[in-house]
Amino acid sequence: MASLKLDALTVRFGGLVAVNALDLEVRDGELRCLLGPNGAGKSTTLDLICGKTRPTSGQVLIDGEDITALEEFERARKGVGRKFQTPSVFKDLTVLENLEVARSDHPGFLQSLRVFRTPMTGRIREVLDFVGLSDHVMTRAGNLSHGETQWLEIAMLLIQDCKVLLMDEPTAGMTIQETEQTAKLFGELRGEHTMVVVEHDMSFVRDIAETVTVMDMGALLAQGTIAEIESDPAVREAYLADTGDETDA
Ligand SMILES: Nc1ncnc2c1ncn2[C@@H]1O[C@H](COP(=O)(O)OP(=O)(O)O)[C@@H](O)[C@H]1O
Ligand SMILES: [Mg+2]
Repeated sequence: MASLKLDALTVRFGGLVAVNALDLEVRDGELRCLLGPNGAGKSTTLDLICGKTRPTSGQVLIDGEDITALEEFERARKGVGRKFQTPSVFKDLTVLENLEVARSDHPGFLQSLRVFRTPMTGRIREVLDFVGLSDHVMTRAGNLSHGETQWLEIAMLLIQDCKVLLMDEPTAGMTIQETEQTAKLFGELRGEHTMVVVEHDMSFVRDIAETVTVMDMGALLAQGTIAEIESDPAVREAYLADTGDETDA
């Protein structure tokens, strides 16, 4: 169970207001797509939710609890998981070892990994099956395809029992097949996890979207179904016209 609420969230970087009085409510188990042109403040919004960046003013609430004052690791313990644009897996470790590290809170665990190979637990097997990496348990993460690396990262969030999943452009660089596979994965995650997904690929957004939020210049520009968003003149002006991916109105 996790609902996410942003209340008048604002962050200034010098003279620039990167996120400007943003209100957002994502209900428990919802998959929210976040769109907007480059520089709109999407990644910064995810930074503010996970605690990587502190807001100038405003609040972040999980299940009604104000977590704005918490450190990034404390938010992680509350189940907030962030997947960054560039993958952050350990390339020299196997898929299984990466998951063991993700699951472990113990410092020094990494060093002991090579000595004590722990058997695969049921939960790790379940997560690997879920993301489609069960045939790659012993593959070095550095040898995975780009898409597989992204799925390993998602698996690492799942093994940490993240309830809120923040995904920044998860399909960037993926093949069409990998993108479709990822859409399927997200379809299965919805309901169990509360998700905020920043995406540029409009066909992917059409596949996965329930409610879409569009940001421009740090502020909320529009919100609604994908059909409402695509026919919104302000959105077309700010964003869709730029992508060259307009649908027939
Ligand atoms: N740490 C930072 N310091 C200064 N400016 C930043 C910082 N992070 C982001 N920005 C600026 O804030 C604006 C929003 O950036 P960002 O959230 O990355 O946009 P998006 O992800 O929507 O493309 C941009 O103008 C960017 O240059
Ligand atoms: Mg970004």
